[in-house]
Amino acid sequence: MPHELFGTPVIAAPMAGGTSTPAFVEAVHRAGGLGFLAAGYKSVAAMQAEVRTIRESGARFGMNVFVPDPAQLRPSAAVLAELEDYRLQLRADARRYGVELPQLRLDDDDEWQGKIDVLLADPLELVSFAFGLPGLDVVRALQRAGSAVLATVTTAAEAVHAAEQGVDALVVQHTSAGAHSAAFLPAPGAQPGGPQPVGTTAELLAEVRSAVDLPLVAAGGIMDAAGLDAVLRAGAAAAQLGTAFLRTDESGARQLHKDALADPHFTRTRLTRAFTGRQARALENEFVRDHPEAPVVYPAVHHLTAPLRAAAAAAGDAERLNLWAGSGWRQAQAGPVADVVHGLLAGR
Ligand SMILES: Cc1cc2nc3c(=O)[nH]c(=O)nc-3n(C[C@H](O)[C@H](O)[C@H](O)COP(=O)(O)O)c2cc1C
Repeated sequence: MPHELFGTPVIAAPMAGGTSTPAFVEAVHRAGGLGFLAAGYKSVAAMQAEVRTIRESGARFGMNVFVPDPAQLRPSAAVLAELEDYRLQLRADARRYGVELPQLRLDDDDEWQGKIDVLLADPLELVSFAFGLPGLDVVRALQRAGSAVLATVTTAAEAVHAAEQGVDALVVQHTSAGAHSAAFLPAPGAQPGGPQPVGTTAELLAEVRSAVDLPLVAAGGIMDAAGLDAVLRAGAAAAQLGTAFLRTDESGARQLHKDALADPHFTRTRLTRAFTGRQARALENEFVRDHPEAPVVYPAVHHLTAPLRAAAAAAGDAERLNLWAGSGWRQAQAGPVADVVHGLLAGR
């Protein structure tokens, strides 16, 4: 029996940056899964426009919001100096495309309060958060408005913090996951902001399960029915998949990104801060190799590299684009979203 919060064991991850369009989320719903829209990097107005579109389709959906980190929005003088150094490093990349690097932008909280206000005024069924915890007051207010609230965690310690805020469920994200790590506590023995390397996704899930009593959604490296089975057997209420959907027809990912995922030239994924200042798993390309060290300042680095990424995309240069990919990327298949969802649900 699928968990009542989700109604299906297959959740398509919210994928900010253009992948999770309303058409994609609708296709996931029609195929028997549950999709999330991604509010990240969007204005409040753009988020509302996507909600209107998906509502017209009649599809069930959730909304995912990035939690700003106040410390990274007010970096120390030492971190600011690192940022300036990184800016200098990026000048060669800028010259390559003839683009200007922008002034540092340090105050971008992704319109946090505006998004929360809208979610309270016009509530949705499911709201998930990543990169931090929304705070007890926000969790309670959203729940009073009628939403179920999910927080994303990467360790058992983070899960305990999230449970203390009274959330309804957790997304448990393993380090094999594509794109940004949602980590918000420094993991023991790891760099601040980097995910702790714990066994498999199912093992991390079991560890979190012994620390908190909440419905858990497993995320990271789940690419097929066997992967789904493994996390469900470990006690997951559902699985959240990103990379498995990236190449689908309805995915809004750039064609360059879709093609790179199928290109044998790329041989591994790596965690990198080079593009945004926050650890993220991407196909290893020249940009990742050229910039092994980037300061821990998100989203300031994201804004700094934005013109470079735009220029790389326009030039069709996959070597300098953020090619987000989880460790199971080789199994990502092209074709309709429905084929991926049906493949996952086969035999259930
Ligand atoms: C292109 C891309 C964009 C993502 N954007 C978001 C996002 O906006 N919010 C979020 O909570 N997770 C985001 N994720 C992470 C997913 O929620 C999930 O943790 C991850 O995709 C699971 O690992 P997998 O990619 O191996 O399936 C993104 C993942 C990808 C691949």
